[in-house]
Formats: sequence, C-alpha cells, structure tokens
Amino acid sequence: MAIFDVGVAVVTGAASGIGRATAIAFARDGCKKIVLGDLSNAGMGETRQIMLAEFPDTAVATRHLDVSDEASVEDFYSFAVSEFGSIDYAANIAGIAHEARALHKTPDNVFDKVYAVNQRGAFLCEREVLRQMLTQPRRNGGIRGSIVVVTSQLAEMTTPNMTAYSATKAGVRGMCRSDAMDYGPEGIRINTVGPGVTITPLLLAAQEDKFIQSMARGTPLRRNALPEDIANAIVWLSSSRASFITGVSLIVDGGMGLEVGPDEVLQAV
Ligand SMILES: NC(=O)c1ccc[n+]([C@@H]2O[C@H](COP(=O)([O-])OP(=O)(O)OC[C@H]3O[C@@H](n4cnc5c(N)ncnc54)[C@H](O)[C@@H]3O)[C@@H](O)[C@H]2O)c1
Repeated sequence: MAIFDVGVAVVTGAASGIGRATAIAFARDGCKKIVLGDLSNAGMGETRQIMLAEFPDTAVATRHLDVSDEASVEDFYSFAVSEFGSIDYAANIAGIAHEARALHKTPDNVFDKVYAVNQRGAFLCEREVLRQMLTQPRRNGGIRGSIVVVTSQLAEMTTPNMTAYSATKAGVRGMCRSDAMDYGPEGIRINTVGPGVTITPLLLAAQEDKFIQSMARGTPLRRNALPEDIANAIVWLSSSRASFITGVSLIVDGGMGLEVGPDEVLQAV
C-alpha cells in the first residue's frame, strides 16, 4: 500500500542529490502533489522530467527558491499553497558545504555564506512552513504536518576541517529539537535526518576522492551512501508510519558513528 494516500510534499534542494532523490521517493511512495524548490531551475526541470516519466499521475510544480532570501522563501511556500492547498510533508534539504579548511584559515565570507544558506535558510524555511501548518486542520492522529530537515552526521560528531559547516548543522539540529517540543502540542512533527558521506555533487566538490574512498572503507557497511539511502529515511520519517516520532536526529551513516579506535584497528575487522 502506498504510504502517502493524501497530502502535499514540498521539497527544497530538489534540483540535485538528496533533494532530487527525495522528490522521486515521495512520488514512488504514492504522494500525488509535490512542489520542488531550488536555486537551479534547470536541475529542477530535470528532476520533474524524471518524476513524470516514472509516475505520470503525479502533479509536480517547480518554483525558483533561494533559502537564504526571506522574500524568496515566502514566495516559495505561498506558491506551494496556492498550487495545491496545503503543506503536509516539508522536506527542507537545500544546503551547501565548503572546502575542507581549518578554522584559522577560514575567511569571514566562507562562514557567512554557509551560515546564510544552512542555518538562516533552515530557520526561514521552517518558520514559513510552521506558519502554514498552524492554519491547517488536524488529520490522522491529530497531526497537522511533518517537517524533516536534513542536517548531517556532523551535527553530532566531527571530522577534520569542517568547522563552519558542522556549526551550522549542529545549530539546525538544536533549532529542530526546540521546535519539536514547541509545536508537538500543535500536531506538527519535526525531525532531522543526518546523512553520512553521500555521493552527490556537494560531496565531490568539498572532499577529495581519496578521502571519500577511505570513508567508505571505514564504514561498517563498507560503502558510502547513495542519495536514495537518505531519501528513504526522509520519506519514511515524513510519513504516518513514523506517526509517534518527533524531535529525533536520525543519523543515516552506514554505522560510521559506531566506531571508536585508530584506523589500523578498525581496518583489521
Ligand atoms: N552529500 C553528503 O555527503 C551530505 C552529508 C551530510 C549532509 N548533507 C546535506 O544534504 C543536503 C543536500 O545536499 P546534497 O549532498 O544532495 O548536495 P547537492 O549539491 O547535490 O544538492 C543541494 C541542492 O541545494 C541547492 N541549493 C543550494 N543553495 C541553495 C539556496 N540558497 N536556495 C535553494 N537551493 C539551494 C542546490 O542548488 C542543489 O540543488 C545538504 O543540506 C547537505 O548539507 C550532504
């Protein structure tokens, strides 16, 4: 049985990587009304084509979105509501990384840019979604809507030279934990998904191939994630199958966070 028999999904960062895979997964799992937002109109167009080719009875709307711009965020979510009437499943995925570099070599503008998109952008999107969801009637189990925000395994743990990025993702985790408490009584579930190393354009631009391969070797499942691995977690957490889950940080990292010990010990297992 499809897990989304009713409702509208709204996905940011939908032009690429995890956002694209999530939009496709919502359609695969039966969601019939999906809105895509991203900076890249061309990338969103491609995502839409892929979705319609495989799921032609799904209505897919696209709108240019800059999550760091308040007016653009307001325009995007009001467009979603004017197209399909509600926002039932918000998947807030848009984000950027930076080249790995130590904090003392990080210029202000690198920190400011990552902060503007990842943390301020997450705040602007969540605020707009909450404003809409609070106007919606309660449905199954008293729920008005679900928000899933993509953070990172770096919201909880660490890796060398990703200070600015980690700071924003941990900040977003804190925001969502607070909001899960504040808006639970209003029937809004808010959770975060923290991907491990996931093969997307963002990763390939931020990290060297050698690093990416060594991360796969150091992961208990012995591979890096595909965008679909993360999308499946986001869509499940959005759905009524996760009806009593709010405030969690679901780390999807193939077990990487389980490991403590020097490389030579871990690689010998
Ligand atoms: N790939 C990984 O290893 C990894 C690991 C942990 C967390 N994440 C997180 O997953 C999310 C998705 O990343 P991805 O790996 O799929 O990267 P990606 O680069 O493939 O996709 C990110 C998308 O976000 C869009 N975007 C960037 N800035 C935007 C803005 N200001 N407004 C609207 N859209 C914007 C981009 O155009 C792009 O389509 C990000 O939040 C990222 O931090 C990724």
